[in-house]
Amino acid sequence: MMTKTTTSSALALTLAAVFASLLIASLEMLTRERASASKAAAELRYLGQVLDMDNQPAAFTFVSLPIDNRYLEVLGLGEAAQMHIALRNGEPYAAIVPSVSNTGYGGAIKLLVGIDFSARITAVRIVSHRETKGLGDKIESQQSDWIDSFKRRSLNNPKPSGWAIKADGGIYDQFTGATITPRAVVRQVAATLEVFAAARLTWLADSAPRESLDVEP
Ligand SMILES: Cc1cc2nc3c(=O)[nH]c(=O)nc-3n(C[C@H](O)[C@H](O)[C@H](O)COP(=O)(O)O)c2cc1C
Repeated sequence: MMTKTTTSSALALTLAAVFASLLIASLEMLTRERASASKAAAELRYLGQVLDMDNQPAAFTFVSLPIDNRYLEVLGLGEAAQMHIALRNGEPYAAIVPSVSNTGYGGAIKLLVGIDFSARITAVRIVSHRETKGLGDKIESQQSDWIDSFKRRSLNNPKPSGWAIKADGGIYDQFTGATITPRAVVRQVAATLEVFAAARLTWLADSAPRESLDVEP
C-alpha cells in the first residue's frame, strides 16, 4: 500500500515537472517571437523615414538580402543580419543598412542608414540607444534635427577628414557637454558608407529582377 502511494505521488510529481517545463518552454518561445516581431516593426517604422519617400510610399517595394559575413564586424553586427533594397517602380533605388556603434556612452547605438545607388545618404535614423537623456539623446530625430546633417552626404562629401565632429576637425556638430555620442554615430555612418562602396555592385545585382532563362525552342 505504502509503495503504491509513493509510486503514484512520484509519478504525479514527474508529470507536474514535465508540464511545468513545457509551459516555461512555450512561454519563452512566445516571448522570443514577440521580441523579434517588435524589432521588425521598429525597423519597418523607420524604413519610410530613411528613404525620404516624397510622400509616394506606394512606388516602393523591398527586397531583403543577407549581409555577407565579411561586413558584419564593420557594421557592428554580432550575428547574421539582413539589409533591405528599396526598389522604386521596380528599379533598385537605395540600400537600407542596419549598423551598430559600440563606442557610444551608454551602450550599443543601433542605426538604419539609407544610401541611394549613387552612393549618397538618403537619411539616417536611430532605431535604439541608451545614451543619456538631455545629453546624448539629441541624435534622435524626435529630439533635434542633428541626424539630418547626414542627408545627401557621401564618402567624398565632405572629404574624408570632414567625416568627424567639429571637435575632431570635421564638419559635424557635437552637443554641449556630449561629444562621445555624436562622435560614435558619425564614425559608424562613415563605416557604413564604406561597406556600401564595397558591396554596391553585388547588392545591385542581387536585387535586380531576374532575367528569364527560357530558351527559344
Ligand atoms: C552622468 C553622465 C552622463 C553622460 N552622458 C553622456 C552621453 O550620453 N553622451 C555623451 O556624449 N556624453 C555624456 N556624458 C559626458 C561625457 O562623459 C564627456 O564628458 C563628454 O562627452 C565630453 O567629452 P570630451 O571630454 O571628449 O569632450 C555624460 C556624463 C555624465 C557625468
